[in-house]
Amino acid sequence: MGYGAMQLAGPGVFGPPKDHDVALAVLREAVGLGVNHIDTSDYYGPHVTNQLIREALHPYPDDIVIVTKIGAVRGADASWIPARTPADLTRAVHDNLRNLRVDALDVVNLRVGGISEPIEGSIEEQFATLADLQRQGLIQQLGLSNVTSAQVKQANSIAKVVCVQNHYNLVHRDDDALIDELADSGIAYVPFFPLGGFTPLQSSTLSEVATRLGATPMQVALAWLLHRAPNILLIPGTSSIAHLHENLAAAELALTDGTLTKLGAIDGEGVQRAP
Ligand SMILES: NC(=O)c1ccc[n+]([C@@H]2O[C@H](COP(=O)([O-])OP(=O)(O)OC[C@H]3O[C@@H](n4cnc5c(N)ncnc54)[C@H](OP(=O)(O)O)[C@@H]3O)[C@@H](O)[C@H]2O)c1
Repeated sequence: MGYGAMQLAGPGVFGPPKDHDVALAVLREAVGLGVNHIDTSDYYGPHVTNQLIREALHPYPDDIVIVTKIGAVRGADASWIPARTPADLTRAVHDNLRNLRVDALDVVNLRVGGISEPIEGSIEEQFATLADLQRQGLIQQLGLSNVTSAQVKQANSIAKVVCVQNHYNLVHRDDDALIDELADSGIAYVPFFPLGGFTPLQSSTLSEVATRLGATPMQVALAWLLHRAPNILLIPGTSSIAHLHENLAAAELALTDGTLTKLGAIDGEGVQRAP
């Protein structure tokens, strides 16, 4: 169970957090409770989450893995603008190195595709740029985000892919086949929006199961993901210490086969989302 830092920036993932000290406390609490996988990007804020991570945690514990992603920049109006030329990607790696204050980034995901779904097409030039930066010693491991199976195969023929970060949760299951494929290849799958993203999941089945187990719906949604496949690593995002505790405790929640079947049938039940 890791932690996704995106929620620490201001509204719309833009600008400073609503409470700087709470943001630092969330990060320190996560690491204090044993989290050693933190997901971030220099375009959150922009620069805000990386600077908070540095302020809260630098010098970093030896075992911590900070995973960042590149492939976009932010407009002055908070828009998300693709930035994937070799020069853009190289600049983004240097921005991440500076803001996180490290000599080499642990893992860099190349973020491609649309807003939250992949778009088929070659990523050869972009991934080759990352592979070059890895050879220069600026990046330790490479990953991908928002990609198709064909794009994973193409990237893997250029340099080793260690993780894929795509949109997936209890009610968004487009990647079922990809997850199993990656498990067979020993590649980690890290779902973004594991709780549904900006509008957390709501389903009557999820609530019923949670009540029966004495857990919260969000905990059950996370536990379901952990039971889904051995290569799934979680990075639920929160700006709240109480939610952080709740999310980390989900790792202890055991689900029976019967419960997993019931939850697995939620996809398509006409799930409502919170307004
Ligand atoms: N690769 C990509 O394109 C991409 C895209 C999106 C996100 N990401 C990464 O994935 C991580 C996770 O995604 P996410 O943060 O967007 O979505 P998420 O983890 O699915 O959900 C975050 C939302 O759920 C709320 N929440 C968290 N824990 C809760 C709990 N226990 N009870 C009730 N509400 C809870 C949060 O609000 P509070 O702050 O109030 O807890 C926030 O509104 C991000 O932090 C980011 O690092 C990557």
